[in-house]
Amino acid sequence: MCGIVGYLGKQEAAPILLGGLKRLEYRGYDSAGIAVMNGGDVNVVKEVGKIRNLESALDTTPLKGFIGIGHTRWATHGEPNKTNAHPHVDGTGNIVLFHNGIIENYASLNKMLQEKGHVFITETDTEILAHLIEEFYEKDLEKAIRHALHEVDGTYGLAVISKYDPNKIYVARKGSPIVIGVGKDEYFVASDVTPLVNYTRDVFYLEDYEMAIITPKGVTTKTIENKKIEKKTERVTFELEAIEKGGFDHFMLKEIYQQPDTIMDAMRGRILKDEGIVKLGGLEKIEDRLVKANKIVFTASGTSWIAALIGEYLIEEFCRIPVEVEYASEFRYRNPIIDEDDVVIAISQSGETADTLAALREGKRKGALTLGIVNSVGSTIARETDAGVYIHAGHEIGVASTKAFTSQVTVLALITLMIARRKNMSSELGKAMVNELLKIPEKVQIILHQNDYIRDFARRYKDERNFLYLGRGYNFPVALEGALKLKEISYIHAEGYAAAEMKHGPIALIDKDMPVVFLATKDVIYDKVISNIEEVKARGGRIICIATQGDEKIQQYADHVIYIPDTLRALTPLLSVIPLQLLSYHVAVMRGCDVDMPRNLAKSVTVE
Ligand code: M6R
Repeated sequence: MCGIVGYLGKQEAAPILLGGLKRLEYRGYDSAGIAVMNGGDVNVVKEVGKIRNLESALDTTPLKGFIGIGHTRWATHGEPNKTNAHPHVDGTGNIVLFHNGIIENYASLNKMLQEKGHVFITETDTEILAHLIEEFYEKDLEKAIRHALHEVDGTYGLAVISKYDPNKIYVARKGSPIVIGVGKDEYFVASDVTPLVNYTRDVFYLEDYEMAIITPKGVTTKTIENKKIEKKTERVTFELEAIEKGGFDHFMLKEIYQQPDTIMDAMRGRILKDEGIVKLGGLEKIEDRLVKANKIVFTASGTSWIAALIGEYLIEEFCRIPVEVEYASEFRYRNPIIDEDDVVIAISQSGETADTLAALREGKRKGALTLGIVNSVGSTIARETDAGVYIHAGHEIGVASTKAFTSQVTVLALITLMIARRKNMSSELGKAMVNELLKIPEKVQIILHQNDYIRDFARRYKDERNFLYLGRGYNFPVALEGALKLKEISYIHAEGYAAAEMKHGPIALIDKDMPVVFLATKDVIYDKVISNIEEVKARGGRIICIATQGDEKIQQYADHVIYIPDTLRALTPLLSVIPLQLLSYHVAVMRGCDVDMPRNLAKSVTVE
């Protein structure tokens, strides 16, 4: 989703801004632009498409100056073209701004401004903001910005420069993250820390309704009500290798291969093996309330929502606490029944997903204890929850979530164990589960060794138009995740279903042109899954099975089998999802898709 960078200091701004935008590419975007102050004038270069297009344009038209801002746009209002690319300017051309988020009341503001004579040249909601500031400008730019921000409904991460105030960058935040990096006599602005860490590790975040005025002499922070606030910098620990490909062709493949380590990192220091007990520091203070919860409501989006489904299976089976799983985007608008005895758990890799954040706030408003299972340290969801557990998966850059998913499921298993051992889980079962959890990383490694085999047979399926993924029990959410992975990076239509549901509708789709991926691991419902496989086979469907090592029988049904090591039924998703990630990856690469930055998608979805 849109990204913002800014620089004010003694170095040329344009190369720093360009480098910063490259670091933000992973968020997803369709155009990019840079604006730099030079001797009281603001010069702009913007281009549609990849950053390399902007880079070429900057080669032809270099921008000189020490203060500037830049942006990658992910279109919401108006198609991705050069006109709609940021920055946008007011009618005088003096106020130049970049904006992340959505101005929800843009239509009424547009009407009001047109009546006052403003003329708009783009289809964006952002342009309204530039004109609104112009409308309120009376020789005090800061005041005009604050006034404009009071008039807008919606979300913004905003950066403004202007010849009215040529030595300043104004930034403001509501709903869309802004982090400020403090160097020696220089300041940096960004949507997340990745563009900053080359230059400084000292940062602070703006909260909603806060703004910062950056000048060569320092940064002033205040609320948009003009109340001064003190911000303390914190030190970010961030290894630069985390945002390099490290020899892999794509970030997604690197992240798939990191999973033995990231799953271990999610467990590190949290398991007392001899007692079969889990300790989660982040939950210590609220542990009693969690154990006694009337019900747990998970809220999340996309892959994180699918992880939540696995959490539901785990917690209901082992903790006997009722669980609901809600799409965050639905939760807040349907007045859910939640009270102080309930616990709302938001799951989010980025910690910035607008829908998830809004759902969390709704849970909080209703009095529930709110927890977060988050990857991004210091993100908004991590900061706003009452307590939480970091998954410690490290920076995930590929838009398709892989390692974050397995780390989320690992943490959900840990939370389950923590609660269940406080309730009625025996120490024998506790020990068996933690022992098996600790073996998962090496079992993932065994699956990764089959990468070449998976790539070879992926070739046969690369030109398919549809795929069905079927699983039951703990493998049902994995079927959903397999389908989501394939569709988002290869653009092949794919659906995930509970295997037995197939006969209630999707079976009509089965013919020789429909590959069906079955999650058919050995467990209590294995025989039922075999019956579902027979139903597909009888109708000519082609079958790929994810099966348990040693299951020879499955070969008589399947065109291809990928074996995974045996594990406890409840932990199966941690293994069965791995071949599906690899299958999607290889199919997408063979189709020539941009695996790390699939079309239309954003890594961090900060608009509703
Ligand atoms: O950062 P979050 O976990 O809150 O993101 C939620 C979804 O946007 C995300 O999982 C999305 O579905 C991924 N592209 C899936 O691969």
